[in-house]
This record gives sequence, structure tokens and C-alpha cells, in this order.
Amino acid sequence: MPLTIEPTSATLGATVRGVDLNALDDASWRAVLDAFHEYALLIFPGQGLSAAEQAAFARRFGDIEVLVENLETIPISNKGADGALLDDDTFHMQLLRGNEGWHTDSSYMPLAAKASVLSAQVVPPAGGETEWADCRAAWDALDPAKRERLRTLNAYHSYFYSQRRIGHEVATGQAYGFFEGPPPLRPLVKRHPVTGREALYIGRHACDIPGLDGAESERLLDELMAFTCQPPRTYMHRWQPGDVVVWDNRSLLHRARPYDHRHERVMMHTRVRGEPESESALASG
Ligand code: OGA
Ligand code: MN
Repeated sequence: MPLTIEPTSATLGATVRGVDLNALDDASWRAVLDAFHEYALLIFPGQGLSAAEQAAFARRFGDIEVLVENLETIPISNKGADGALLDDDTFHMQLLRGNEGWHTDSSYMPLAAKASVLSAQVVPPAGGETEWADCRAAWDALDPAKRERLRTLNAYHSYFYSQRRIGHEVATGQAYGFFEGPPPLRPLVKRHPVTGREALYIGRHACDIPGLDGAESERLLDELMAFTCQPPRTYMHRWQPGDVVVWDNRSLLHRARPYDHRHERVMMHTRVRGEPESESALASG
């Protein structure tokens, strides 16, 4: 079967078939990488990769950001180590509830993420989809006066802020892998280091725009998020076990959709580090 790339009807995303991610020849990898830059989200149905194979695929995009010690690919799951379902009030489930808010991965870290690879192992009977929003198309759709103003603004990105906003107070020292230092400051507009395309850089971790008071800052960031995350700039994927996706955190927001926690949902996540030249925070962060 030849490699095919079928764009979705949204401004982002394409489904890629006719390729084995474990056996990519140079031409296929080139086609995948070009499509990644163009569509920012690629869906590969039915790959069925192991954790190590998924990490090997992720490594093609760059260095892996290790989120949990010694694990390149981590489970995103409502099942505990003993195999039992976790209670909603556990720390881990509070983190997963956070994933249901629009975000870009690791923006609260000194070096934000470049890409993320996510795959499905066990899928609940209803809900539990993943959805993405196109921050490039959102930027393009803003009126020029608004764009000029946004070019002058930065925002802090704080994991403590985003969790607090959903009623989860994270104590210092409790956030294990998460950044505990001062939150990084990042421009609201990001120029993609490969394509040169500009995009809004926002999400639930963004807060406290310097020069605006707290309420004004929150209002502007909420307004930009609502503007970004609507059709035709959103795409939702209904998972089948074995599906693999990769997305560009420099161009998109994403979120998990809710599901009934009496059912299992087991996903595998591998995160690709950003490049210091383009994904570092501003010096004054
Ligand atoms: C993630 C994430 C969404 C999901 O893995 O970074 O946000 O649908 N996942 O599980
Ligand atoms: Mn995420």
C-alpha cells in the first residue's frame, strides 16, 4: 500500500496510511516530517507500537523529554500500578483532569516541548477522545490591530496557576516532575522555527501578562483561547487501540475529553524536547 496523507476538513491534521512507523525508509520519513510541519497533527491508525518503538519514533523528531525518571514513554491512565482504577481525588487523577483544559505541553517548563507522541492501548466505550486546536490559523484570523497589540505582550506559564484554576491546589514539593522554580515568561506570539509561520502561544498555563492587571490578563487570555478553539480550527480524534498520533506543540493546543472513570483508559505518551534557540523562556522569566 502506498503512503497516503489525507488532510482533515479542519485547518490542521492529516491521517497517514500505508506506512509502518517501525520501518520508515528515508523517503517516507521525509514525507512524514514535511506533513508534520504542514498539518501539525498526524494520525497513524493501527500502528500498535510498543513503548520502546514509540520512543524510537519520537526520537526522530528530537531529544526525548523525560517526564518520569527512567521512562521515555509514560502511561497516561486511570489505572494504578496495582491494576486497580484510581479514585478521582488522587493526585494523579487531578493531573489528568488538568489535561482536559486546552494546553500546550511543558510550556510551564524552562524549555517548552516541541512535539508529543500519544497512542491508545485501552479506550473507554464513550468519551476519552483527544482534541486539538490550530493556533496558527487563529493568529491568521485575528484582525491586524489586535495582532499588533498582541505582538507586544508576554505571559507567564504556571502549572500551579492552571491547576489552582480547576480547584487543585498543588503544594510546593508535591509536583514531582514539574517545574518548581519561577514560572517562565513567553511571548504571546510564536514564530515556528522551521516554517516561519506565526501562531498564538497560549493555553491554560498562561497567566499574569506583565503590564495588565490580573483580571484584564485573565480576560484577554480566556478570550484568545475561546477564539482559537472553535471550528474550523479544531479537530477531535476518536481513538482505536493501536492508533498513534504526533502533534506540534509549537502550533497547536490540545485537550483530553472526559469519559466515565469506571472504564479503563490507557494511553502512552512520549514528549520531544524543544530546541533551546526557539523553545526557551525569555531571559526575564
Ligand atoms: C498529553 C495529553 C490528552 C489525552 O498526553 O499530553 O494532554 O487525551 N493527553 O490523554
Ligand atoms: Mn498534554
